[in-house]
This record gives sequence, C-alpha cells and structure tokens, in this order.
Amino acid sequence: MTPRLQTLMSMVVLGFGCMIMCLSCCPAVVHAVQGLMKITYKYEGHFPESFDWDKSHRRFLVGSTAKGSLIAVSVVDEFVEVKDFVEDPDYAGKAAVLGVCVDSIRNRVVVAVHNINYSKPPFNAVAAYDLDSKKRILFARLDGIRAGESVINDVAVDAEGNIFATNTLGNYIWKINLQGEASVFVESPVFSFPSVVVSAKIAAVGLNGIVYHTGGYLLVGQSNTGSLFKVDLSTKEVHLTLKESLKAADGMAIRKGGSLVVVSADKMWLLTSKSDWMTATIEEELSLNASSFATAVIDKDGYHSFILHSYLTEAGEGSDRDLFEIEEKQFIKDTEDDAVWLIVIIVLFVVIITAWRFQMAHFYKQYRKKQV
Ligand SMILES: *[C@@H]1O[C@H](CO)[C@@H](O)[C@H](O)[C@H]1NC(C)=O
Ligand SMILES: *[C@@H]1O[C@H](CO)[C@@H](O)[C@H](O)[C@H]1NC(C)=O
Repeated sequence: MTPRLQTLMSMVVLGFGCMIMCLSCCPAVVHAVQGLMKITYKYEGHFPESFDWDKSHRRFLVGSTAKGSLIAVSVVDEFVEVKDFVEDPDYAGKAAVLGVCVDSIRNRVVVAVHNINYSKPPFNAVAAYDLDSKKRILFARLDGIRAGESVINDVAVDAEGNIFATNTLGNYIWKINLQGEASVFVESPVFSFPSVVVSAKIAAVGLNGIVYHTGGYLLVGQSNTGSLFKVDLSTKEVHLTLKESLKAADGMAIRKGGSLVVVSADKMWLLTSKSDWMTATIEEELSLNASSFATAVIDKDGYHSFILHSYLTEAGEGSDRDLFEIEEKQFIKDTEDDAVWLIVIIVLFVVIITAWRFQMAHFYKQYRKKQV
C-alpha cells in the first residue's frame, strides 16, 4: 500500500467513525456519501441509445432507436414520470434517434438521426428542438455531403453553437453551424492510425462518442480500436490521447471538475489529464453487467454519473421489453473525495468548538476575577 493510499484509507475509516458521531450535526454530508439513484421507467419497445440531462427542466431527455422519438423522464416525489417529448413526422417510426445533447445556452436539444433499415435509402440527419415549445429549430440532412456509407452516431455542441457529429462508418466528423449548414469538419489519417481492432464483432464501428471541452477542442472515442482522440477546433489537428484501449467505448461525458467518463456495454472508465488532454490517465475502471448493454453516460449536477441501460441486444429479437433504466454510478475515487470533505468539515467543527471553549474559559476567568 502506498503511503498516500494508506493516509486516504485511514481518512476514510476516520470519516466513517466520525460520521456516526456527526449524524445529527451535518446530515448533508452523510447524504452525499450514500444512496445512489436507479430510475426504472416504463415505455414498451423504447430501446434507447443516448440521453442527456436537461437541468433547466430537471428531466432526462432520452432518444429511442425503435420509435425514432424523444421522451422526457423525470423523478417527482420518488415517482418516475415519462412524457412524450418530440415525435418528428419526418423520421419518427422510420429512423432511430441516436446521439442526444442538451444545449442549455440556446435552450435546445440536439439529436442525431439514422435510418437503421438498410433496405431503405440512407438517412442521416441532425435536428434541434426548443426545450420549452418543442418546436423544431434546426434540421440538416448529411447524406450526399461526401460519398460513401455513413452512420451518424453522437453529437456535441461547442461554445458558439456549432454541432459536431461523428460518422461511425466514415470515420470522420461533420460540422453543422447555427444556420444548419453541414460540412465535413475533419477527416484525419490519425483516426486510422492505431489500426488494431479490439473485437471483430464491432470491426466496422469507428468514431462514436464525442464531447466538447471548453478548452477549445473535442474529445472523440472510437469503438473498434478503443482509441481516444483530441481534435483541436481551431487547427483541426487530431491527436491520439491514450496509450491504452477503451474497448468498445461508446458514450462519453465531461464532468464538472474536468475529468472524463467513458462507457461501454460492460465497462465504465474515469479518465483525467494534466496536459489539456494531449495525454490521459485511466484513474479507475468499473465493471457493468453486459446484459443491460449501457450505451451512454452523462454528468448530472457535477460528479453524478448516470448511465443508460439500452437493452439493445434484445431490440432485434422482436422483444416487447417495456422497462429501461437510468442508473447513477459512483467511482471509488469520488467517495474518497467525499470522505476528504467530511474530514475538512469535522476539523473545522473541532477548531470552532475548541476556539469557543477557549473563549468561554477566558470569559469565565474574567468574570471570576471581577467577582473576587
Ligand atoms: C425495411 O424497409 C423495407 C422496404 O421499405 C420494408 O419492406 C421492411 O419491412 C423494413 N424492415 C423493417 C424491419 O422495418
Ligand atoms: C446481469 O443481469 C442479468 C439480467 O438482468 C442477470 O440475470 C444476471 O444475474 C446479472 N449478472 C450479474 C453478474 O450480476
């Protein structure tokens, strides 16, 4: 055990010891250490693939691959409420909603739409809807911009409101500006540089998860190689950021403190970087139950990672599944951080009590002196 870990362990033990003592004095901290949320919602044949948290309306917006629609899932007094949100006649019932990204600044939700019935003409599009009126405010078809097969998969929005979308088959990134004008943003040999495919089953599944970092770049995952790339928005330079492979990497989210969470059907990774994502470190890895097939992760209110159980493996088998889950996950590192905060609060408490007792003793002495 490293000395640092030892210190941390004893802090955690100390934290728990003091927590019992502190139950009545600082319940907010105790609350943060326990109780992870699991939201089970009912919607027959929904089979979601992506979602995001709409913080202004306190709801999850979840896209359906089977219905080609968006629903809103919220928790009201411990009850789960499911509401239809958008059913766009241009593609609902015909194509799948894949990526979902809430753009709070512009009060809209951006979705990636792809037709998974390959007997039909290709259909790849990006659409955006107002979070209040649900009105469509942007729609852009991406087919025909560049020859070759395309699967739009995930979307991200930068500070100016440009949308960036991954093309999983074409291994490039589209850009759609605020006016809805679409173009190929970046195509790079770096995307095919680490050509070691980690699983034959997903050999064709290339660029997938995409997130915007306020440092002026995108972080992009690639499922078949498990690679993570940094794409500079001004220079369009593409950089391979990680030596290790995040096998079958799917959805990603940047957390409040700047760390990155990546999810696959059976794993969840926490990554950090000290070099503005030129290199990255895997801090922790959690195992997930592959049968529920997690495909997306989001950061809700900072340090609360929620994953989406898609059950997509059942979708093609004529399943009538009607229960799906959104589940909160916590890395051990985060509970350690909670413990550190607990210690800080306890130390402050002790200092204040000591100072107060010292003061009281002082006053008492003065008082006794006066009496004498
Ligand atoms: C796919 O499209 C074809 C042609 O329109 C149609 O006949 C078929 O039923 C569709 N398949 C599914 C699974 O919807
Ligand atoms: C994974 O989930 C399936 C279906 O819900 C369940 O039957 C199985 O026991 C789970 N496996 C583990 C290791 O928890």
